[in-house]
Amino acid sequence: MCGIVGYLGNQSSKDILLDGLKELEYRGYDSAGITVLKDSNFSIYKSVGKLNNLVEKSKNLSVDGFSVGIGHTRWATHGKPTESNAHPHIGEATHIVHNGIIENYQELKKELIAKGYRFSSQTDTEVIVHLFEENLKSSKDTFSAFNKTIFQLDGAYALLLIKKDEPEKIYFAKEGSPLILGTNRETGEQFFASSDSPLIGHVAEVIYLQDGEFGYVDGKNINLFNGAGDEVEQVYKKLPENREIAQKDGYRFFMEKEIYEQSQVVSDTIMGRALDSSIEFDEIDPTIFDGINEIKLCACGTSYHTALASSYLFERISKTRVSVEFGSEFRYKDPLLTKDTLFVSISQSGETADTLASLKMAKNAGLKTLAICNVDNSSIVRLSDYSILTRAGVEKGVASTKAFATQMVVLYMLSLYVAQIRNNIEKERLQKELHTIREIPNTLTVTSKLHEKIKRLSKRYLHGHGFFFIGRDIFYPLALEGALKLKEISYLHSEGYPAGEMKHGPIALADPELFTIALLPQNILYEKTKSNIEELGARDSTICVISPKSFELADDFIRTSSHSHYMLEFFEMMVVVQLLSMEVAIRLQNDVDMPRNLAKSVTVE
Ligand code: G6P
Repeated sequence: MCGIVGYLGNQSSKDILLDGLKELEYRGYDSAGITVLKDSNFSIYKSVGKLNNLVEKSKNLSVDGFSVGIGHTRWATHGKPTESNAHPHIGEATHIVHNGIIENYQELKKELIAKGYRFSSQTDTEVIVHLFEENLKSSKDTFSAFNKTIFQLDGAYALLLIKKDEPEKIYFAKEGSPLILGTNRETGEQFFASSDSPLIGHVAEVIYLQDGEFGYVDGKNINLFNGAGDEVEQVYKKLPENREIAQKDGYRFFMEKEIYEQSQVVSDTIMGRALDSSIEFDEIDPTIFDGINEIKLCACGTSYHTALASSYLFERISKTRVSVEFGSEFRYKDPLLTKDTLFVSISQSGETADTLASLKMAKNAGLKTLAICNVDNSSIVRLSDYSILTRAGVEKGVASTKAFATQMVVLYMLSLYVAQIRNNIEKERLQKELHTIREIPNTLTVTSKLHEKIKRLSKRYLHGHGFFFIGRDIFYPLALEGALKLKEISYLHSEGYPAGEMKHGPIALADPELFTIALLPQNILYEKTKSNIEELGARDSTICVISPKSFELADDFIRTSSHSHYMLEFFEMMVVVQLLSMEVAIRLQNDVDMPRNLAKSVTVE
């Protein structure tokens, strides 16, 4: 997702910022910008697309002697990837860069507009700079205004702020998004970045700022405070020496990093949408559901599994008829399309050829269209009437993990949104579902106990003549996804199957070399699923049960937490099947991030 860099010192800040942003390129971005502040003069450059465009735009700027600077790569979440939406965002005499999402930006924006502030972007970030300048009018100094401003922000942020009449300072704050501060004690230079890699080679030790911490640097000192406003001890940690490791944040594979990121990106995806007593999607007009009798969900691969999983939620919660289509099938089946159908395309990349072609067919037939996508300005987003962006950030592992998690949570929220606008859900039920949604990030936190257990257990699943992932209800699409993960990266044959259907054929395969991975949640069809697993056990299949409740007859058992809602069990089990697939593939010494024969974005039929 977005990246931040900052610099204060005697080297050319422009070069340090651009080099730093280059190191963050792997995270993905669609626009970038820098500001250099020297002798109370700002030089700001922004560009859309690749960093080379920014290098070209700023080529005439040369910076000699002391300066400060801030830079940013933006991955669009609020507003299109345009120059005016790119950071830094500017006020009268202040520039800022920001990662994260300001949840209450709309209220703040309204108040600021009423006070006469003009906005030149669609971003949530721009409110911060105007709010700061408004607070400055009634504060005794810059630091108090900065302090007041960050306490008015709800949501997540890592931000750097520089001010025209203080050209020797950088103000900073961190809540929920990463921010790292590095100092070269000999030269007095200060460096900021949102991850390790831009700092490597400049400093040996850094401070990983904690949530709630904020302050300013001025070349001589670091002034660091906690959320209560008390000065805090500066704890330095050694930086990794290898950039590749730094990009993976110490994880063995991007897939592993992305599994661990799920809690954070799902929080980002929920933010500002699952409110105290309602679901809001600012980016769609509720009238798109007027006159709609059917929702058609269309996708490929992993995205197809979120489509199928959410079909259970749409019918159960929003009482709306749903059909689910593979892009590659739909486009050639001469489908009957009627205008009372809302066509929803689900895609991580927004470029999958079959999904895109299906969307074009739906549009040509005059259907209303909505995209659930991770990439703003992608073909699918551009073509759809409306789009809801998942906020997973760039996913590098070919086997999708965090994109699946964020799609799933968007579709869960969308099913509630439809129920809400159609008055199909009681207040109490809605409250319970909203509470569940807010709990999801906790269920996605990977504990070392769980990961170690799965690592150990994986050695027993490296062979065999096949795997069946089984589950019922919404756990059936999750079983499909588990099987897809395993086959994609381990090259072992695996299938997902509805647990209740095993007796209609697949049970003929049961023997000790057939591995069954059984999803057994406690909150939905527990007894029924349990019986299905026992039927397989009785035929001597080797069984690994994933459940919060003990299962005596299992060969292996992975205990999940006891939750009160099946969707919390769903997300926790999702992490289990992802980790299991990854650990099996690692033991088989496969390239987990780039499995053979597969591509991340399939732009051909
Ligand atoms: C490829 C990827 C899968 C992905 C599928 C659909 O096959 O390897 O991980 O699920 O495309 O991609 P989309 O970008 O449309 O979600």
